[in-house]
Amino acid sequence: MENQSKKNQQATTVHIPVLLQNVITVLAIKPTDTVVDGTLGGGGHATHILEKLGPDGTYLGIDADDTALTRVRKLLGRDKRMHFALGNFRTMDTLIQEGGFTEVNKILLDLGLSSDQLEIRSGRGFSFMVDEPLKMTFAHAPDKSTLTAWHVVNEWSEESLADIIFGFGEEKKSRRIARAIVEARQIESIDTSTELATIVEQAVPRKGGAHPATRTFQAIRIAVNDELGALEEVLGKSLKILAPGGRIAIISFHSLEDRIVKRTFIEWEKEGLGLRITKRPIVPSRKESIENRRSRSAKLRCFMKAE
Ligand SMILES: C[S@@+](CC[C@H](N)C(=O)[O-])C[C@H]1O[C@@H](n2cnc3c(N)ncnc32)[C@H](O)[C@@H]1O
Repeated sequence: MENQSKKNQQATTVHIPVLLQNVITVLAIKPTDTVVDGTLGGGGHATHILEKLGPDGTYLGIDADDTALTRVRKLLGRDKRMHFALGNFRTMDTLIQEGGFTEVNKILLDLGLSSDQLEIRSGRGFSFMVDEPLKMTFAHAPDKSTLTAWHVVNEWSEESLADIIFGFGEEKKSRRIARAIVEARQIESIDTSTELATIVEQAVPRKGGAHPATRTFQAIRIAVNDELGALEEVLGKSLKILAPGGRIAIISFHSLEDRIVKRTFIEWEKEGLGLRITKRPIVPSRKESIENRRSRSAKLRCFMKAE
């Protein structure tokens, strides 16, 4: 009975795809396209893009989280156009090569975490709402050499903690939070998401709005997974991956990520490598922001490689 309910839980997703119609429009999907989705997540964008692909289209869904791949495999059932790869999108070139795909027409990246990881048990402590070991790594099989949130929280200097909480979390009270973490770990190690959330909440009590640990959790996750480095690396490879006239669309939720995407696309355009399809980022409508709170900070940009 318990196994059955675990299976059912895996075969559903609570994630609502963000800027769905806009993604479809800017990517201008053609029936025969080969689409590489570097962030398969709950398969929301995948499902709708597959509807635009014809029988000769191809979809490669990549995710660093094996539970996401398992879930989408079950959700979509058998579809010969659909392929899966477990890995980090920073190695997209290798994953494409290993899959035997030769021409890629469209790339999609929808950065960050899915609601499945934040709202359902991930076993990795991504969310302060669920009591889990402090890992926060996307890596599917972390070993002793894998950087985890536990190492960051229990071993990094107070200054480094304050720097990432400020830099990646845009948290004004970063110094106070870093101090509280260091004081707490001097008594005993901080092992779970709930312990960390409580320490942050005690240091900067809630004043309505988001949970006070939201930004700290985001910052630690970005540091653990080198998310900005991964974005820069895949951007550096994407024009080589794309066929002439191919397009890359990126949805970001963090100002530092959006800045990287914006600057890269402007630079590429100046170098004559193609055209920005979006001169300004596309953001969710008021309706979408209300219906899906997670979409509020989303920014979509798209670039087309020269023909
Ligand atoms: C926002 S969700 C994508 C949601 C998806 N577009 C949908 O509509 O269901 C982001 C997904 O990307 C994955 N992810 C984040 N960074 C990654 C990376 N560097 N490499 C591979 N997967 C990554 C996460 O595990 C998560 O499943």
